[in-house]
Amino acid sequence: MKETVLITGASSGIGLELARCFAAEGCRLVLVARNSAALEVLAGELRQAHGGEVRVLTADLRVPETPPRIFNALQAEGITVDVLVNNAGFGTHGDFVATPLERQLDMVQVNVTALTALTGLFLPGMIARRRGGVMNIASVAGFQPGPRMAVYYATKAFVLSFSEAIAEELADSGVTVTAVCPGPTKTNFGNVANFRGSDTVLRGAMTAAAVARHGYRAFRRGRFVVLSGFRNFVPTVLVRLLPRIVIRKIVKWLITIRKPVRD
Ligand SMILES: NC(=O)c1ccc[n+]([C@@H]2O[C@H](COP(=O)([O-])OP(=O)(O)OC[C@H]3O[C@@H](n4cnc5c(N)ncnc54)[C@H](OP(=O)(O)O)[C@@H]3O)[C@@H](O)[C@H]2O)c1
Repeated sequence: MKETVLITGASSGIGLELARCFAAEGCRLVLVARNSAALEVLAGELRQAHGGEVRVLTADLRVPETPPRIFNALQAEGITVDVLVNNAGFGTHGDFVATPLERQLDMVQVNVTALTALTGLFLPGMIARRRGGVMNIASVAGFQPGPRMAVYYATKAFVLSFSEAIAEELADSGVTVTAVCPGPTKTNFGNVANFRGSDTVLRGAMTAAAVARHGYRAFRRGRFVVLSGFRNFVPTVLVRLLPRIVIRKIVKWLITIRKPVRD
């Protein structure tokens, strides 16, 4: 039976590439983001390439009512979601006090609250059917504090901890939860966060397609946590070996050397 997969943040980057991975497997898709034009272009491409059903849902996850609205709309249409991909997210670059509070609270809403709400709404149905899964896009940022991207790093620590914990709770339920932890990836993320990666980081950055394929395979294998690329494994080991004060200083330096895209 064909699965139905809901992907948030499918209008660009990793979410868009994940949509391509699931569509290639013949899944039905529900694509969510604010940029409806980009979603329609992707939906057209996927329908043509794979002939599957693709539903576009324009939604702003900064709005607290959006997750229940999505859930109720799909229920009313008789669409059962088998796989939930919580990928939508963004960051901001700069000191906490120098960044508008509203933007930081929006970040918590999109990266944490909406992700938790959608998981809470769709998971009970999956458990009742004893099949399906949740893929949450965390980050290597989730392994340590991130001075000058403080809220973003904290949101990803939440996603990692939350996903791993419920994955353990759901062992033997027939439902899996996977936290995908990409490192620097070539997407629109830096532009939205207003930083340009340092040349060294940019040279080693993975493509969104590679991150998506890697995350997709790990999800299909039922892995709890997956790091995208060997290079990104190193900081997660160092964080366990070095004192936290050293880690904080290194991360602060790595974030500070990123140049703003806009003044
Ligand atoms: N790129 C990296 O280096 C990197 C590394 C680790 C983790 N990640 C994570 O990967 C995920 C995907 O990011 P990306 O790198 O692919 O960046 P991206 O190209 O900027 O894509 C972000 C996606 O999130 C959606 N989104 C943002 N705000 C939203 C809102 N208010 N409501 C609904 N959708 C919203 C965007 O859609 P609309 O703008 O159309 O709404 C877009 O589709 C994020 O969770 C990010 O934290 C990225």
